Amino acid sequence: MFSIDSKDFSCPKKKLAREETIISPYREYFSYQLPAEKQYWTMCGQCATVSGVPIIDTEFNHIISSNLISQDQFFGIEINKDIHKVNTAAYPGIKFINGDFYSTLLEHSNNDNFNPGIINVDLLKTPQYGASTFGNIMHLISKSGINNVMLIGNFLLRVYYNKEQDGNEIASELKNNISYKISINTRNWKRRNQYYKYYGTGKSNTVLGSVIYYLKD
Ligand SMILES: C[S@@+](CC[C@H](N)C(=O)[O-])C[C@H]1O[C@@H](n2cnc3c(N)ncnc32)[C@H](O)[C@@H]1O
Repeated sequence: MFSIDSKDFSCPKKKLAREETIISPYREYFSYQLPAEKQYWTMCGQCATVSGVPIIDTEFNHIISSNLISQDQFFGIEINKDIHKVNTAAYPGIKFINGDFYSTLLEHSNNDNFNPGIINVDLLKTPQYGASTFGNIMHLISKSGINNVMLIGNFLLRVYYNKEQDGNEIASELKNNISYKISINTRNWKRRNQYYKYYGTGKSNTVLGSVIYYLKD
């Protein structure tokens, strides 16, 4: 059964969010371009039409055309097989990987092929459900001894007409997460003071919030 994601990740709000939470902060904290030896990891979502044609302003296209990275630095992980299939059809030779985000990072780390400069943890989860994934990734980086890396955590702050949460909820869920706590206590993680709030694609009532953490020499 073909269960393609129907969200439009080429939407101007998502594009602006990527500029404000990935491209500009990386350039502010590190450099204009990701160094050649570093990797860009993301939960990439759908970057092509169902017939496998690239979509302008989805993440792959946007990040490459911003000159932040070159194509070979991109690692796009997607858990949905159908989305993965259209991505690989549209971009032959690009590292799109079908699997769970954290498990894939761990596997690459175990195989000595993990040197992230940017990790976009673009969760479709509330802080309550997403904090553990974010904490696990932070812990993986912390214990691997990796440096000069920026981690973006994107959380759902409101779905449908539920009560809206804010950056405090993200902070408090992370503080309760053991992997996050170990990471903060063992490495010199810095955090952007303000979280970034934005609205979901199209006319949806969804509110999202992003936090940025980084380790720098
Ligand atoms: C918010 S979307 C990605 C949007 C994209 N990063 C962008 O900037 O346009 C999140 C994607 O992650 C996928 N996903 C959800 N859970 C996942 C997991 N555990 N591992 C990998 N991908 C996952 C979803 O199917 C969805 O396509």
